[in-house]
Amino acid sequence: MMNKFNVKILATGSYVPEKILTNSDLEKMVDTSDQWITERTGIKERRIIGKNQNLSDLAFEASKKAIEKSKISINDIDIIIVATISGDMPFPATACILQKKLGINAVAFDISAACSGFIYGLSIAKSFIESGAYKTVLLVGGEVMTRITDWTDRNTCVLFGDGAGAMVLQASETEKDVLSVHLGADGTYTNLLNMPAGGTAMPTTHETVENKLHYIKMSGKEVFKIAVVKMAEAARKALELSGKKDEDIALYIPHQANLRIIEAVGKKLGVAKEKIYVNVHKYGNMSAATTIIALDEAISSGAAKKGDIITVMAFGGGLTWGAAVLKI
Ligand code: COA
Repeated sequence: MMNKFNVKILATGSYVPEKILTNSDLEKMVDTSDQWITERTGIKERRIIGKNQNLSDLAFEASKKAIEKSKISINDIDIIIVATISGDMPFPATACILQKKLGINAVAFDISAACSGFIYGLSIAKSFIESGAYKTVLLVGGEVMTRITDWTDRNTCVLFGDGAGAMVLQASETEKDVLSVHLGADGTYTNLLNMPAGGTAMPTTHETVENKLHYIKMSGKEVFKIAVVKMAEAARKALELSGKKDEDIALYIPHQANLRIIEAVGKKLGVAKEKIYVNVHKYGNMSAATTIIALDEAISSGAAKKGDIITVMAFGGGLTWGAAVLKI
């Protein structure tokens, strides 16, 4: 079916905080080693948000770059969607705080789909634009994972980092850059990856703080196995929906949680290593920020060239997963 409006990707932008925490820094904090982290995850370093920064500041920097590159007037933005699980406050939405920082009058809300948040956001942006509800969307994926990380838990603290990425999408009658999006979720796995306290099921008390329940809890091994299966499945479904073929895909940009997951997904899909974008060594897992930052870096480094068809895929808490086929 032809839509009256298709979705054009005008530009992307990203921002990571300056402070770098290396594996050798972590060796001084918990019982771990650079060798273990490198071999088991592929991560060498990650970025840590500055003391005076919040997620809305990272989102603001990434958005500014995307808006500048898109050459639109900032007031053209009709709606701001921020995908995050580590917003400035439980409410209001970080998107509203970002709206104020940008000084515009757009509709604004957050979405919570953990590491799949950016792909979920793409689907929402696509639906809004194709339906004619909104013309220009600012979509942000951003996280401050290091403020919900237990720095005494070696099972999780070596994995995460902070950052934000942004994309400006606009209705177009002639160009179609978001070819397909496929999403999935399975709430029977909520126990595998979560932050138990601070919601209304377990409000903050002295006990929840003492018991470190305001930090990420994860069953890494189980999450690993499901991530490989579901990301590969999502990539195949998105490809099918796009009407493209395997050989049309110039680059795959998977969620960057663990190099071994990325390699296993590549193997499952039968994709050559050279066609898979990797930056996990620099940033670790930045949850909803990961895929959009990787996409922005792939474009600015030339790994993804103008006109390329690419697949982005993600997986995260919920459990949630998704993939999208995009024309760059
Ligand atoms: N340094 C040293 N040893 C560590 C360690 C660390 N940072 N973290 C865990 N270990 C230990 C464990 O305690 C365990 O020791 P034990 O056998 O004595 O109990 C051992 O290393 C191996 O643990 P295991 O669970 O087998 O490791 P793994 O190969 O599964 O790797 C993860 C662990 C977390 C890296 C991996 O499971 C993973 O990446 N999972 C997916 C996580 C993810 O992607 N989450 C986000 C989804 S978006």
